[in-house]
Amino acid sequence: MNSVPVWDAFVRLFHWSLVVGFAANATLTNPETALHHYIGYAVLGLVGLRLVWGLIGTRHARFSDFRPSFHGALQHLCDMATGRRHVHVGHSPLGALMIYNLLASLLVIGASGYAQTTLTFFGVKWVKEVHEVAVTWAEISVALHVMAVIGESRRLGVNLARAMVTGVKEIPRE
Ligand code: HEM
Ligand code: HEM
Repeated sequence: MNSVPVWDAFVRLFHWSLVVGFAANATLTNPETALHHYIGYAVLGLVGLRLVWGLIGTRHARFSDFRPSFHGALQHLCDMATGRRHVHVGHSPLGALMIYNLLASLLVIGASGYAQTTLTFFGVKWVKEVHEVAVTWAEISVALHVMAVIGESRRLGVNLARAMVTGVKEIPRE
């Protein structure tokens, strides 16, 4: 096995705090209470910090390390279809697209949530609907994200979820 350090402490702490915050607001908290708003702001804060870390952080945390790429995504899909084993040290091309999708969805959720607490948008139906649709979209995306993590871990023989805990990818030697 090659042990390759990939995710720094910030990325890991960010990820698991995000999971807890998102899950709490999507399932547990009463949206009409302050707790829902505080947790929502915390999630927004995490995403904000992650955006900064994407510019100044460690190598694989930087956006420049996982630029959105149509060609890369197509190649990744071909690898999956043909069974070609190609382990990406940082984020994979399809993983990268999902990450941008999740971060953008969380920003829309946060902004539309906050808007509902302002005098201008309080009780405005379309703002409420944007919040609801964005939450549903994020939930579907998370389901896909988790299925992809499990599927790719099996296909590549690399435990991706464990790497998000320890920070280290254990990559089998060829
Ligand atoms: C992780 C981020 C968030 C998630 C997952 C989330 C999730 C949800 C869900 C599931 C609902 C219920 C929608 C429905 O009626 O079917 C809701 C409603 C709402 N959320 Fe959020 N939310 C988040 C962030 C925020 C933030 C940051 C705020 C404001 C500061 C906020 C304010 C509200 C308000 C005002 C409602 C409507 C409550 C009502 O029905 O009167 N949310 N949210
Ligand atoms: C138990 C459920 C989850 C597991 C096992 C999981 C696992 C992972 C793994 C392994 C990665 C790294 C992917 C790679 O190797 O390229 C990752 C990245 C990521 N996941 Fe999850 N995830 C889960 C839930 C969530 C949820 C609920 C959210 C957000 C709502 C989320 C958002 C993200 C984001 C934004 C990244 C990028 C991390 C970064 O570069 O900072 N994940 N996840």
